[in-house]
Amino acid sequence: MIILRTVSDVSRFVSEQKGRNASIGFVPTMGALHAGHLSLVEKAVSENDVVIASVFVNPTQFNNPNDLATYPRKEEDDFRLLAEAGVTAVFAPSVEEIYPGGVEAHAGHKFDLGQAAEVMEGKYRPGHFQGVAQIVSLLFRIVTPDRAYFGEKDFQQIAVIRNMVKSENIDVEIIACPIKRADDGLALSSRNSLLTSEQRKLAPEIYAALKDSVEYSLSHSVQATHDTVVERIDAVPGMKVEYFEIVDARTLVKIDEWEESPWVVGCITVYCGDIRLIDNIAYRLPK
Ligand code: PAF
Repeated sequence: MIILRTVSDVSRFVSEQKGRNASIGFVPTMGALHAGHLSLVEKAVSENDVVIASVFVNPTQFNNPNDLATYPRKEEDDFRLLAEAGVTAVFAPSVEEIYPGGVEAHAGHKFDLGQAAEVMEGKYRPGHFQGVAQIVSLLFRIVTPDRAYFGEKDFQQIAVIRNMVKSENIDVEIIACPIKRADDGLALSSRNSLLTSEQRKLAPEIYAALKDSVEYSLSHSVQATHDTVVERIDAVPGMKVEYFEIVDARTLVKIDEWEESPWVVGCITVYCGDIRLIDNIAYRLPK
């Protein structure tokens, strides 16, 4: 696996690959890789001639400086895992390489991300999706992939990136990949490594509550389903739901009645102590 540190290294590598008509799959990450990331890589490897992954903890998408400071960084392990998974090249730039002159110098452009960026994460993490759009669009322009792979744990992020690609006119296919879970059901996340062993034991209650609520939803209202999930998780010591919204998966707008949409998803964010975990579940899927 080739390690690329600069934009010009990537441009050279990409033009060589395009010169031989190779298709390029791209897996953007912030590192601290787990089996969820590797499942994206596996899919990318199976669908493209060449796979580029990026490892870059993007400062502009963190609205909380402490979250940025404590975000896990494990570059050596990440490179080993990516190489073993069959990645052709990894792009791991410095902050200065991506934002020359500092991040403030690059703050001008406002992305049109649509209504999907205003709710849930958009509401609770102001500026987060502008930061995601900024880095993902930049990486897309540098890597110029045919396909890019994202995990459905960040369900809203995928919708926002699809909107960004449309409004910025970027020619790339966005591929959504299913959530990977630990054996006890906890959605895999780089942030799981920050949980204490006690918190790690309790965290699977998030998915347990979501999963049980799918059956419950068949005979209860949207509001009752919402409440049963929130009450169950809030009853766990040290856990607090920040938001749980049951939404039309196509627009991310909240629904009041199940009949409002053929595709309904519940998106949740829970604080386990100071660690913020997200997850989601489908209540109704289009036939
Ligand atoms: O999902 C993530 O890890 C990040 O938001 C992404 C897409 C790599 C952009 O920094």
